[in-house]
Amino acid sequence: MARYRPPPIPASEITPEPVYRARREFMAGALALGAGAAWPGESAAQMVMNVSVVEKLQFRPNPRFSTDEPKNTFEEITTYNNFYEFGTDKSDPAKNARSFRTRPWNVAIEGEAEVTGSFALEDLLKPHALEARIYRLRCVEAWSMVIPWIGFPLGELVKRCKPTSRAKYVEFTTLLDPKQMPGQRFPVIQWPYVEGLRMDEAMHPLAILAVGLYGEVLPNQNGAPLRLVVPWKYGFKSIKSIVRIRFTEKQPRTSWELSAPREYGFYANVNPEVDHPRWSQKRERRIGAGSLWDRRPTLPFNGYDEVAGLYRGMDLRKFF
Ligand code: MTE
Repeated sequence: MARYRPPPIPASEITPEPVYRARREFMAGALALGAGAAWPGESAAQMVMNVSVVEKLQFRPNPRFSTDEPKNTFEEITTYNNFYEFGTDKSDPAKNARSFRTRPWNVAIEGEAEVTGSFALEDLLKPHALEARIYRLRCVEAWSMVIPWIGFPLGELVKRCKPTSRAKYVEFTTLLDPKQMPGQRFPVIQWPYVEGLRMDEAMHPLAILAVGLYGEVLPNQNGAPLRLVVPWKYGFKSIKSIVRIRFTEKQPRTSWELSAPREYGFYANVNPEVDHPRWSQKRERRIGAGSLWDRRPTLPFNGYDEVAGLYRGMDLRKFF
């Protein structure tokens, strides 16, 4: 059992009740800190009808951590999804997550940290300025996309939680709610969805927690209201709709590893040299670009070479 600790945020800073209740004030704290940028000429709201709540976020573009490759469209990003809690077909999440309730939303911080407890999402986000980062997302099924996320470095939140010296890993858990998530009524994988990172991976500046894309609050099918994005790893590490973050001494047992240990490893770094039993990882199809048969070479660590140092000396075939 995690010990309950009072929130680290002084009561005076907590959003007043009426504001908190106003739907448009979602993440008021985070918004206040943003710089107020927008994607020129792009209105995602016009393109998608199945997003029940479309809200603008304020954020600062971060070119240092962004690719200049052409972005996938909002339509592609929000209609071609893996979110098994809402069905296993790529088109299922957009249909089945429409009425998914993402507010109010609490996140439990547990385990080997000084700051633990249950936090309203608004309070958790309050101190963090939002950034836009255009990342490649490479799925283990050998397709990829380019997505303009809005989020903040995971490492900033980790630091605020003050992990103890015993904390070696961070475990993330998705909401378990078969009433709202029809996919959880079937034993496709072990529910709830669990993922994890080693502490140094979690602290790497490329790892972010995302709350939006294309300047707007995350559509439900993309993991609203809070998801992980780890661009140098296969997409399945980027867990959606997070309700628990736990600091652990032992390596977390992730859902995919438990379901098919030969196919999915804990590290899941994008690696063209190590094939998945069902999909060669040498090449990939960029969704929306070229014909169905066009393939581009997959790059080690999905092209994010700056993380290579995290794995120096490790046999990446063994620790796949
Ligand atoms: N998180 C949860 N909870 N459930 C899932 O099924 N699918 C993963 C990941 N996160 C998944 C998840 C996979 S396989 C991929 S490729 C990405 O989400 C897809 O993210 P996107 O739909 O936003 O592109």
